[in-house]
Amino acid sequence: MVPTFKLNDGHSIPAIGIGCFIGKPGGGDQVREMVEHALKIGYRHIDTAFMYENEQYVGQAIRNSGVPREELYVVTKLFGTYHGNVEEGLDKSLKALGLDYVDLYLMHWPQGYDPATGRPLGSNEHPTFVDTWKAMEKLPATGKVRSIGISNFSVKNLDVLLPQVTTVPAVNQVWSSFHVQISSMILSRVLLKMEINPFYPQPAVREYCKKKGIHITAYSTFGLGNADLLSHPVLQTIAARTGYTTAQVITGWVIKKGYSSIPRSFNHDRLAQNLKYAEITSEDEAKIDVMYKAPGVHRTSWGHFCADGMILGWTYEQLGFNIRDGGSVIED
Ligand SMILES: NC(=O)c1ccc[n+]([C@@H]2O[C@H](COP(=O)([O-])OP(=O)(O)OC[C@H]3O[C@@H](n4cnc5c(N)ncnc54)[C@H](OP(=O)(O)O)[C@@H]3O)[C@@H](O)[C@H]2O)c1
Repeated sequence: MVPTFKLNDGHSIPAIGIGCFIGKPGGGDQVREMVEHALKIGYRHIDTAFMYENEQYVGQAIRNSGVPREELYVVTKLFGTYHGNVEEGLDKSLKALGLDYVDLYLMHWPQGYDPATGRPLGSNEHPTFVDTWKAMEKLPATGKVRSIGISNFSVKNLDVLLPQVTTVPAVNQVWSSFHVQISSMILSRVLLKMEINPFYPQPAVREYCKKKGIHITAYSTFGLGNADLLSHPVLQTIAARTGYTTAQVITGWVIKKGYSSIPRSFNHDRLAQNLKYAEITSEDEAKIDVMYKAPGVHRTSWGHFCADGMILGWTYEQLGFNIRDGGSVIED
């Protein structure tokens, strides 16, 4: 039985979900088959996005599965061209999914795009991510989303977002961390989704989120299937002792930290494997925590996106990502 984490708006998120990004937009029937099988074997949390261009296949899988809607936790994400019209972006996703609501709607990246040209907007061009977040805060009142959150925000951009949201006139602030009470009495809280694995554990953002009470969903927890990560001796030793695989040790480490995880697999055995995880002791946790400190290891799995020094049109500096071309982390 997959545990759940309680969000501060009262909703709960299953600790393990099925990721639907295959490294590029699309996936079609392959994604439909994966989600259908995942639902059959017990997954209830599904992570997709407008950008993945497979929401309609995820919707088909949900309908084919026969699992009642209320048992599911469906996450999708706002695409950059809809930053100026978030409800339209949400409606497009709902239509593709064939659903009346999603459980969680995320701002996929902080940067918006000009809807006419697709040009990424600069960090000070409107709509900024603050404008977009303020529009997203109104979504729970429509009944089309249960919770809202963000994805790929660094400490730098969280530091821009959070203080500005508290001073919005339409909002009564009821603060303990990032806790906003909208005039309609709908409580909205933020959840952050970002890459986390033992080679890229993002300690600064995690510490920040802990202080602010922000739940984290970790993605790319297996480093996109990185063999160096999955065969690492520290993980292998724990796996051998506990009788789990190294992937299950990673999931156990993520869950011990209180984060949800959304691995993706097209393989039925690995899909089943990924629903279970090793219980991690504090001693094991401490060993995994420092794996990234070995020379040459500390890097994002998505380094190849960064060849031109930009990610989706923003510089690393604008994104607040402390990495260099190729994705290795610049150590302080
Ligand atoms: N918010 C964002 O910007 C963002 C960005 C990236 C990803 N995501 C979400 O996170 C999800 C997962 O991330 P990801 O797909 O990038 O990376 P991932 O889950 O770390 O890696 C997926 C790869 O790991 C392999 N794998 C899966 N289970 C395994 C196991 N038990 N043992 C060994 N290898 C295993 C898969 O191969 P097989 O298929 O052959 O098993 C696949 O090649 C995505 O699908 C997406 O939903 C969100």
